[in-house]
Amino acid sequence: MKTLVTGGAGFIGSAFIRLLIAETDHRIVNLDKLTYAGNLENLAPVDGSARYRFVHGDICDGPLVESILADERPDAIVHFAAESHVDRSILSPEPVIQTNLRGTFTLLEAARKYKLDRFVHVSTDEVYGSLALPLEATEEFPLNPSSPYSASKAGSDLLARSYFVTYRLPVMITRASNNYGPYQFPEKLIPLMIANAMESRPLPVYGDGMQVRDWLYVDDHCRGILAVLGKGREGEIYNIGGNRSLPNLEVVRKVLALTGRPETLIQYVTDRPGHDRRYALSSQKLMREAGWQPATDFEAGLARTIDWYRANASWVARVRSGEYRTYYEQNYAGR
Ligand code: NAD
Ligand code: DAU
Repeated sequence: MKTLVTGGAGFIGSAFIRLLIAETDHRIVNLDKLTYAGNLENLAPVDGSARYRFVHGDICDGPLVESILADERPDAIVHFAAESHVDRSILSPEPVIQTNLRGTFTLLEAARKYKLDRFVHVSTDEVYGSLALPLEATEEFPLNPSSPYSASKAGSDLLARSYFVTYRLPVMITRASNNYGPYQFPEKLIPLMIANAMESRPLPVYGDGMQVRDWLYVDDHCRGILAVLGKGREGEIYNIGGNRSLPNLEVVRKVLALTGRPETLIQYVTDRPGHDRRYALSSQKLMREAGWQPATDFEAGLARTIDWYRANASWVARVRSGEYRTYYEQNYAGR
């Protein structure tokens, strides 16, 4: 099987490619624009593989996408490429709309033309919006996104689904909860807190820190996507949750305990505008249909993640230089 992966130099896409190379016989083409979040260092473990090829480019570039499909003739697309950070989408929505909507449209059009066998659109639990206790979103829940990021993902989900309904393109949509693990860009909660804790810098907690997220180890997410690619039914949506809901403050305290830093480093800062209070997912459908379940215990996964960041301090230093400083200043200064 040959698979076109988009956004494969990012956090989850690179974990997916490493998994495919290690545990399947897929051949892979990775199309990635290498934005601030894309990093070829994440793919060093597969670099020499004859089953892997990298193409530097934009998913919004229709002629490029079509030329890849014409030359490579992949069986499937697994579509990760996105502007993925909520805070950046609030500061600057334009690239989010461009990549997440226009980019998805471009890929769907090319997939339709070249009659691909599978199109997995990787999406998020954020499309369901904030849910009151004890609700858990099933795949039938209404879409209720809050941020430009989640609205763009909800829009792209609907577009992807319309290509199944209208053109019978074999689209499947996955909606995952918050991922964590090695190689995550340190703009997201867990790697940002680990990186700051390692340097004994303040840990900025938005609002009261009691917002709840469901934490999913990245490799468990990738195995869920692989299960959907193999066994998912065309036109269906599959939630992929970690089954481990925690308030942010508890996550931050665990990071401090595991890095041996004091809780006095916690700094409460002005809340994120439109901040969703609680996400919660039911993954029963994927469990039932594909036998998938999240395998990684949160405390073990967090300890493993912290070990990785400790062992890869030079990776952290490189991705936090340059553009990251400007972003950090823009998002956190005076908050
Ligand atoms: P990321 O920001 O780490 O990586 C995104 C990748 O996409 C980067 O390599 C970037 O260079 C690439 N990219 C961005 N714009 C592009 C464009 N126009 N053309 C080609 N490549 C482009 O993101 P991530 O956290 O790995 O998320 C991957 C996908 O999973 C996204 O679709 C996201 O919405 C979804 N998702 C993420 C999470 C999470 O917790 N991180 C949870 C659920 C779903
Ligand atoms: O739920 C899935 C989504 O999870 C994905 O679709 C997104 O791509 C991914 O970025 C993530 O979105 P969140 O907004 O939930 O993740 P983030 O890591 O940005 O924030 C997690 C929680 O921590 C959220 O409630 C905001 C809070 N937070 C975050 C940062 C970066 C803080 O309190 N302080 C911070 O500095």
